[in-house]
Amino acid sequence: MPELVPVLSKDEIREMISELARKISSEYKGRPLVLIGVLKGAFVFLADLTRNITIPHEIDFLGAASYGSGTTSSETIKLTKSIETKLQGKDVLLVEDIIDTGITLEYLIEYVKSLQPASIKVCTLIDKHQRRRKKIKIDFAAHIVQEGFLVGYGMDYAEKYRNLPEIYHLKL
Ligand code: IMP
Ligand code: MG
Repeated sequence: MPELVPVLSKDEIREMISELARKISSEYKGRPLVLIGVLKGAFVFLADLTRNITIPHEIDFLGAASYGSGTTSSETIKLTKSIETKLQGKDVLLVEDIIDTGITLEYLIEYVKSLQPASIKVCTLIDKHQRRRKKIKIDFAAHIVQEGFLVGYGMDYAEKYRNLPEIYHLKL
C-alpha cells in the first residue's frame, strides 16, 4: 500500500491562497487579466484562487498531458485542450498545480505567446526544485518543495487522489 505523508493542511492551503490572491489582485488592478488553468491538475487550485481574487478577470483552461501514469516526466507534451478566449492585448496568468522539470510549462508558454497576449506570467501552487530542467521564471508560487511526489488538492498519481482536500507526499 502506498503511504500518504501530510505536507499541507486545509488551513495552510487556505492561507497561502488568500496571500497569493492578494498579490495578484494588487499587481493586475485595472488590467485585463485572464487566468488560464492547466488541466487537469490545476482545477481545484484555480477554483479557490479565482474566488479569492478581488479584481475582475476571465477564466480559461489549457489541457496538457505529460505524465502518463508514472511519476517522471515523459518529456513529450500533448496539448489536449486549446484556448478559446481571445488573448490579444490581455494579461495572461498561467495557473499550474506543480512545476517539476518545467518542460510542460515551457511548451505552454510558447503556445500562449503565439496567441499574442500583452503579458504572460506564471502562478503555481507548488514549485518543486530538484528536477528542474528548464530555466523558467515563476512569478507567483504558494509553496516550494525540493523533491517528492505530491498528491491531493487536484494533483494525482495515475488519476487517483485529486479529490483529497489536503496535500500529501506519496511514498510508493
Ligand atoms: P513538468 O513538465 O515536469 O514540470 O511537470 C509538470 C506536470 O507534471 C505538472 O503540471 C503535474 O501535472 C505533473 N506533476 C509533476 N510533479 C508532480 C507531483 O509531484 N505530483 C503530481 N503531479 C505532478
Ligand atoms: Mg499540471
